[in-house]
Amino acid sequence: MIPFSPPRIDEKTIESVVDALQSGWITTGPKTKLFEEKIADYVGGDAVVALSSATAGLQLILHWMGIKEGDEVIVPAYTYCATANVVKHTGATLVMVDVNSNDFNINIEAIKKAITTKTKAIIPVDIGGLPVDYDELFQLVNSLEVLAKFSPSTEVQRQMGRIIIVSDSAHSIGAVYKGKKAGMLADISSFSFHAVKNLTTAEGGAVVFNVADKFDHKELQKQFKTSSLHGQTKDAFSKMQVGAWRYDVVEAGFKCNMTDLQAAIGLVEIDRYEDTLRKRKEIFDYYTERLSQYDWANTPVYETADKTSSYHLYLLRINNCTEEQRNKIIEEISKKEVAVNVHYLPLPMLSYYKNLGYDIKNYPTAFENYKSEISLPVWYNLSKEQMKTVADTVIESVENVLGNKN
Ligand SMILES: Cc1ncc(COP(=O)(O)O)c(C=O)c1O
Repeated sequence: MIPFSPPRIDEKTIESVVDALQSGWITTGPKTKLFEEKIADYVGGDAVVALSSATAGLQLILHWMGIKEGDEVIVPAYTYCATANVVKHTGATLVMVDVNSNDFNINIEAIKKAITTKTKAIIPVDIGGLPVDYDELFQLVNSLEVLAKFSPSTEVQRQMGRIIIVSDSAHSIGAVYKGKKAGMLADISSFSFHAVKNLTTAEGGAVVFNVADKFDHKELQKQFKTSSLHGQTKDAFSKMQVGAWRYDVVEAGFKCNMTDLQAAIGLVEIDRYEDTLRKRKEIFDYYTERLSQYDWANTPVYETADKTSSYHLYLLRINNCTEEQRNKIIEEISKKEVAVNVHYLPLPMLSYYKNLGYDIKNYPTAFENYKSEISLPVWYNLSKEQMKTVADTVIESVENVLGNKN
């Protein structure tokens, strides 16, 4: 069987976790701090907060913004449910918009049409690791027309002075847009280190700040850490120092700190991340070289003049293919013991959102992208032979189902 995306757990990872276990400190402490510093260094930022997930990062950001009922937050219809659920938790109105047809990212024109006087935040998603068109997005929120609509209702929103761009960078650590790395592309970004991600800590995430012109990053970092620990002013590590027991609680915060056990995995991962990206690019290049010879193959965009993907998901689409045919192709591929996936079922096709009234008919491109999409295996140690097996299997299965022989 060729798996889809197993995590890289080797002796180095095990040694690092054992080291954390033997240190006697297993929750948030020195390893988490070091991991935060390494992530900041890697992305070119100066303040990172490591957390239990990317979802938690998005929740903390919306909490900090004071997003609440009556506000509107714009998200793409084509994403993982986390992007939307965090908005629902705040009580704000979830505004979904359609995506591009050349790539899978949020459509800026659609955002423009969706902005109202209630819009407080936009959460673009770098789908598959390809950065969104951030320059266009910033031009939009800074345009006189959109600025005139902005109506802040909290101090943070007033200080921000415009709609905030919160990047769901769950897929895009290491991606580059116009010379800058993900984390430095939006106002605030949230990375995921979930087990299937390029860089894992088993579960985990990190928030990176990029609003130095408006806020003090070190102050924000402190504030987010406090919010991630129930609003408690001292973390467990600081409280354990001799004589330093006293603490205060300044808000009803969340509980979503990263542990040193997770950070121990992440420290190994970040040190070899450039290698990880090189390997992933090699797999992307191989699939594209093989598949682009076929008229039915619509291979994903992952390198352009302005953008380099983090090569997270290889999002293949099959031209002139119905949803049923795509499903049949996946069945055939699976029979040959190759694990593939679909990213994503657009949100309006899932019960919860459908029941809220979101209708896939209003997101035709999201549906078009979904109905012919198949994500291929990409992972640290996929051999040349396995890549060939994947490509051969995909080609054979597509041709069996579509009856093409070109
Ligand atoms: C686009 C997107 N956003 C957010 C998340 C949530 O990440 P996490 O599992 O770290 O909360 C994921 C996870 O798969 C994702 O794919």
